[in-house]
Amino acid sequence: MGHAIAEIMAMAGIGVSMTDVNREFMQKGYDRIKWSLEKFVEKRTIRQEEMDAALARIKLVDGYANTVSNADFVVEAAPEDLDLKKKIFSEIDASAPPHAIIASNTSTLSITAMGSATKRPDKVVGMHFFNPAQLMPLVEVVKGSKTSDQTAQVAVNLAKKLGKTPVLVKKDVRGFVVNSVLGYVFNEAFWALHRGEATRDQIDSAVKYKAGFPMGLFELADFVGLDIIDSASNQMSAEYADRVKVPPVVGPMVKAGKLGQKSGEGFYNWKTGRPRIPFELADEFDVDRIYAAAINGAAWLVHEGVAIPEDIDTAMKFGAGWPSGPCELGDRLGLDVVVAKLNELQTKLNEPSYKPCPLLEEYVSKGWTGRKSKRGFYTYA
Ligand SMILES: NC(=O)c1ccc[n+]([C@@H]2O[C@H](COP(=O)([O-])OP(=O)(O)OC[C@H]3O[C@@H](n4cnc5c(N)ncnc54)[C@H](O)[C@@H]3O)[C@@H](O)[C@H]2O)c1
Repeated sequence: MGHAIAEIMAMAGIGVSMTDVNREFMQKGYDRIKWSLEKFVEKRTIRQEEMDAALARIKLVDGYANTVSNADFVVEAAPEDLDLKKKIFSEIDASAPPHAIIASNTSTLSITAMGSATKRPDKVVGMHFFNPAQLMPLVEVVKGSKTSDQTAQVAVNLAKKLGKTPVLVKKDVRGFVVNSVLGYVFNEAFWALHRGEATRDQIDSAVKYKAGFPMGLFELADFVGLDIIDSASNQMSAEYADRVKVPPVVGPMVKAGKLGQKSGEGFYNWKTGRPRIPFELADEFDVDRIYAAAINGAAWLVHEGVAIPEDIDTAMKFGAGWPSGPCELGDRLGLDVVVAKLNELQTKLNEPSYKPCPLLEEYVSKGWTGRKSKRGFYTYA
């Protein structure tokens, strides 16, 4: 991710100093930037002169002190290990100018914890790009508990300067917005499979061909990596034990070395290419269950002040390729219908994950049922 972030900064006219653990890795990163810019030139997205100018803006520098001594904004994209990131943050803090903002591209770790490793926690922020960062439009700007509004605003402005669409994640919760909503939805699919209510193919067919998601959920889990899905699910269930209980589906697969696409096998066999999901099974799984999980998850994010409905919808459309965001979808389906679906599932399956978020219950009790009543997550004219 680091080389891709350096590339888009340089493309936006920003001077970049890039470092890594040694010269060989730095050079590898630089070569990947060159390769990517050449592809853009081949496809006529940019001109050769623009590629040359972008490359001329990138310097390879040894050591954190030399890399950040003149920086206004630092982005860290080291491996996903909190102790390592804290060590890096404290080293950057010791050498960067006092006004500099330090951002992390972490997907799951606490921005607050990284801020606490510095003497400038107000100037530490999450800037979560999506892979490949050169092409994916979304950036989640994440506030730690001490991040100032001004720092978050600078990160939002920078994301816009890079041509991205930023969303503001106002609280440092695990999964931020996109991975949190996806987590609720994955969990619903994994439970349905585990309980024997539907097969992998029935669920993926319904999700892909009925709901219009870009991939089936098992296909996506394999694509992301089952080790990553397992760690993210466990973090979510540790933080939200009252509403997220993880079924023993992915954990045992990871233990058996089935990590998805990267190991050749996960829910699907990837050795023979991308799986074919049968179209004809699309009616054999109730896709409203997936919608209800997504809408309930989004409601929790609104209820707990993590993000506003507009940003949640933008995040799911631009970060996960969903045709609609969960809040606009909830308003369209009817929030009373969604709550009824959750209650029906809770009665039948007696699982805490189906407990409707208090925000949904409050909206429905006020008659705010979505588009039909002109008030739900959004207000309609
Ligand atoms: N890959 C993704 O899809 C994705 C998406 C969004 C965010 N992220 C986040 O970006 C960060 C990097 O992920 P990645 O997939 O690019 O990982 P990666 O393993 O491809 O790259 C990690 C980089 O850190 C360097 N590195 C290794 N050990 C180091 C050390 N001890 N100190 C400093 N640098 C070290 C490596 O040389 C490499 O350049 C993580 O925090 C990850 O959660 C990844």
